[in-house]
Amino acid sequence: MKRKAYIVGTGHFAPERVLTNADLEKIVDTTDEWITSRSGIKERRIVDEDTATSDLCTEAAKKAIEDAGWEPGDVQAIIVGTVTPDFVFPATAALVADRLGLKGIPAYDFEAGCSGFIYGLIQSKAFIESGILDRMIVLGSDCLTRITNWTDRTTCVLFGDGAGAAAVSSEGPGGLIGGWHWGSDGSVGHLLHMPAGGSRKPASHETVDANEHTISMQGGEIFKYAVRAMRDSCYKALESDGTPFDQVDLLISHQANLRIINATARALKLEPEQVYVNIHKYGNTSAASIPMALDEALREGTITTPKTVVLAAFGAGLTWAGVIVKWEEKG
Ligand code: ACO
Repeated sequence: MKRKAYIVGTGHFAPERVLTNADLEKIVDTTDEWITSRSGIKERRIVDEDTATSDLCTEAAKKAIEDAGWEPGDVQAIIVGTVTPDFVFPATAALVADRLGLKGIPAYDFEAGCSGFIYGLIQSKAFIESGILDRMIVLGSDCLTRITNWTDRTTCVLFGDGAGAAAVSSEGPGGLIGGWHWGSDGSVGHLLHMPAGGSRKPASHETVDANEHTISMQGGEIFKYAVRAMRDSCYKALESDGTPFDQVDLLISHQANLRIINATARALKLEPEQVYVNIHKYGNTSAASIPMALDEALREGTITTPKTVVLAAFGAGLTWAGVIVKWEEKG
């Protein structure tokens, strides 16, 4: 019988500290009205100076393991999609594995911007369907506020920190990981990048003085690209799954901008109640946004079985991805 991959547990973690739009009005020349009307964001969670991506990931992973009814020792591999690892190396995933008391299992990071979690789910599907693994943890997590330029009002109002995790297994019941689509276009990578701190331009006094170790984004260009990329990812993922539009119950898209989410929903002809939105609470948490929303939707009961859910993302790279997950009746 063909092996299948199921999401059997989820978890998320957001730092406690809340930064509201009113707080940002005191930092840069902006208003709650501008931020809310242009992005849908009201507040976001931000890490304190002692907290890094692996800390958020460890908490989210523990919750997913518990939700799956696993013991940590059941986990055979951990992968983390992030653009803000604790260090350039070692990998955040290895630090998380150690924190969970897991020695010797494969653990690595990969970078696909805000598409990281869906890229991770597609990898987990490949590992599990091929028989390489039976149980693994996929994480999407970022601490974008650690690489934010707090003097740039065009970016600093958008981002927040968090982590989301999925326990993926060869044994259901759970969310069956079905059709998918993923892609990238490096020719437009400069629209959203951190100019310095890598091998192209190592960090120096000059790069720090010029704020080149923080996020640089051409928001308007990204916006247009994102609307197209999300729509096409959804269409292609549905096509590869053999699922018609009218069987979609819920869209969980990357939470970068409410206007982009709504444009994607319109492309899928969905009603507002078929679109999960939590951007007002967390802002854009990059790779964490979809698994955080997925976990909230499951825990709130928004996803009751059976249900067909479309996950869709775009992000730095530029990257994009879509995947269809079908929650089955629990036996
Ligand atoms: N407060 C007040 N005014 C502002 C602010 C602010 N925080 N930021 C910009 N403005 C001003 C601009 O200076 C501009 O003024 P001007 O007309 O006098 O020049 C005006 O508001 C309009 O600016 P736009 O950039 O045209 O505003 P837009 O409607 O495009 O919204 C936004 C900007 C929210 C950034 C939007 O373009 C967007 O969401 N883009 C996509 C972002 C995204 O999804 N990024 C990718 C994912 S992130 C990742 O992968 C890590």
